[in-house]
Amino acid sequence: MPRRSGNRIVKALESCIEQAKAARVAPEIIENMCRSRDMMVKKDEFTQEASSSHSKICGEIEEATYTRDWKADYDQGKTQWHFQPGMLCGQVEGQLLKSLVSIHRAKRVLEVGLFTGYSALSMAEALPADGEIYSLEICESLKPLVQNLTKDSPHAKKIKINSELLTPYPTFVDSASELLTPYPTFVDSVSELLTPHPYRITHTLPYVCWFVYFTGPALETMAKLADAGEQFDLMFLDGEKKDYVHLLEMSFDRNLLSPGGTVLIDNAYMIGTAYTSSDDTSPAHILKDLVKSRKDLHSVMLPMNDGVLMIRRLKDVERDTA
Ligand SMILES: C[S@@+](CC[C@H](N)C(=O)[O-])C[C@H]1O[C@@H](n2cnc3c(N)ncnc32)[C@H](O)[C@@H]1O
Repeated sequence: MPRRSGNRIVKALESCIEQAKAARVAPEIIENMCRSRDMMVKKDEFTQEASSSHSKICGEIEEATYTRDWKADYDQGKTQWHFQPGMLCGQVEGQLLKSLVSIHRAKRVLEVGLFTGYSALSMAEALPADGEIYSLEICESLKPLVQNLTKDSPHAKKIKINSELLTPYPTFVDSASELLTPYPTFVDSVSELLTPHPYRITHTLPYVCWFVYFTGPALETMAKLADAGEQFDLMFLDGEKKDYVHLLEMSFDRNLLSPGGTVLIDNAYMIGTAYTSSDDTSPAHILKDLVKSRKDLHSVMLPMNDGVLMIRRLKDVERDTA
């Protein structure tokens, strides 16, 4: 059975119920509050039950994501952030992505935010044998984890991660370790300092290092892909939320999105701030205002999980009458 999505409204209602009990509110009012919470829970359960199940390997990825000690990874400097399992999009959204890949007959998909590979594999399962999903992930240590988690899937070969997309830069392991063998402490300490940043040592001579920006961060890599004239039929943006506006402009204005293509933006409610905050300058409002102000775009907000905003070119949605 898939994990339940963490519904924020259910959590808010649960905290209200606890407060009401502590304040000895009339039992019939508490009962009404419990009924409202149960309606939300049952709606989520029904939604999951009415949607197709994920594949066996996606199920294993989900389990591994929920049981992993992400705090230990963070404390040991293996990850930039203390990841949370709830970052994974889950069964219903995964099946939506899979359906859209199939409806589009997509051959090339671009994803920002690989995490443990759940959404990437869900989409890869609907791609044809020669289809590709390019996934951009800033946290390099996730790549070997995903490769291990997906190794038994026949669809794993369709998933290309970060440096496989562009001419790979020489990495620290390729070049630096040999040249700097006499200075291991120096290399170790510089590498450690670099861990949270998207830079890597590429060439070294004693006491001198060259650094390059690694290909993980979405904005830079997408700009390079656009420069190279690459195009994608479907794009799933699920990385750094503040980048969304730039990523969107890159998709439509630099034609990274193929004609007839679709962009999906995850967490468009931005942890609920879209509808709980009246701050017009919040990233959620800026994104919404941008999309609404562009007369060449068509958008629909899918109210699942933390909001999935689906955007297409208007000319691909509204057809001529003649
Ligand atoms: C919400 S998780 C992605 C979940 C995944 N799409 C899924 O549903 O299984 C977000 C991921 O984006 C990555 N990320 C954040 N900012 C990024 C950036 N600027 N470039 C590339 N990846 C980024 C994070 O490291 C994290 O792994």
